[in-house]
Amino acid sequence: MDKHFLHIKDLTKEEIFDLISLSKDLKSKFRNKEDFKHFHNKSLAMIFAKPSARTRISFETGFTWMGGHALFLGPNDIGIGKREANKDIARVVSRYNDVIMARLFDHKHILELAEYSNSPVVNGLTDYNHPCQIMADILTISEHRGTLDDLHVCYVGDGNNIVHSWLQLAARLPMKFTCLCPEGFSPDEATVELAMTNGVSEIVISHDTIEGIKGADVIYTDVWASMGQKEEAEAREKLFAEFQVNGDMMSRTGKDTLFMHCLPAERGRETTDNVMEADYSIVFDQAENRLHVQNAIMVALTS
Ligand code: CP
Ligand code: NVA
Repeated sequence: MDKHFLHIKDLTKEEIFDLISLSKDLKSKFRNKEDFKHFHNKSLAMIFAKPSARTRISFETGFTWMGGHALFLGPNDIGIGKREANKDIARVVSRYNDVIMARLFDHKHILELAEYSNSPVVNGLTDYNHPCQIMADILTISEHRGTLDDLHVCYVGDGNNIVHSWLQLAARLPMKFTCLCPEGFSPDEATVELAMTNGVSEIVISHDTIEGIKGADVIYTDVWASMGQKEEAEAREKLFAEFQVNGDMMSRTGKDTLFMHCLPAERGRETTDNVMEADYSIVFDQAENRLHVQNAIMVALTS
């Protein structure tokens, strides 16, 4: 595996399957409260320029369970991107800490951290992508479906950081991936191109909420305005109205379809209370799997 965990495209198909298998093993150990002290006497620096519930809690809980100590460094602590150069932060923090996890705005900043850090850097979300989330998602789908064969994932909403990581996964694992978004909110062209041209998967970018969802095994959504875009939320509400994942949309796929959302959800906007609470909703399994997948990523990076 690469020295850092920054993008799904940096992994081979075999490395993705190895991570899924290690995640399952660590999940069973964690649930059985077994001792697994891989990070005894080690420390994790968690750098957050944006808010978080799942990422912060799951990394800290996971690293502590594995015998180490996790430090939370919030937006006002080290002033990442403001107080000193990222390349200086990278070299200082990696002298103290064995692993660095960072959630940043600008993707270039995490690339710079990784370039100058002697410790592995894990991407906990940037404006561009969210690879830990998509690894947790694919583990969750494999648990619910029993297989990743013949998979059609239809993402509905903004062509954002979540979509970029799905596209990179589709460049490694065969699937049909549809991104159903309003015009003007398509994902990054270069990332679509990467997924389309390497020929592993069928990629569809569509604006048709009737045709696009047909045959989907999974309907996945995310907030219409991501962190850093919240002032656009009201304006986006009108533009995205037709893209709400509600009971009607879920019933029009033509098959039994799972509902997924990376969370946090804005109920009443991109999805509804009924869908979040339905039997086909697996959003909390997804959230739990963040912990197990990230444990596996950190173990793999340090083994
Ligand atoms: N899904 C996710 O990353 O959640 P947080 O923003 O709460 O960490
Ligand atoms: N697209 C969302 C994901 C949150 C986990 C955001 O960036 O805010």
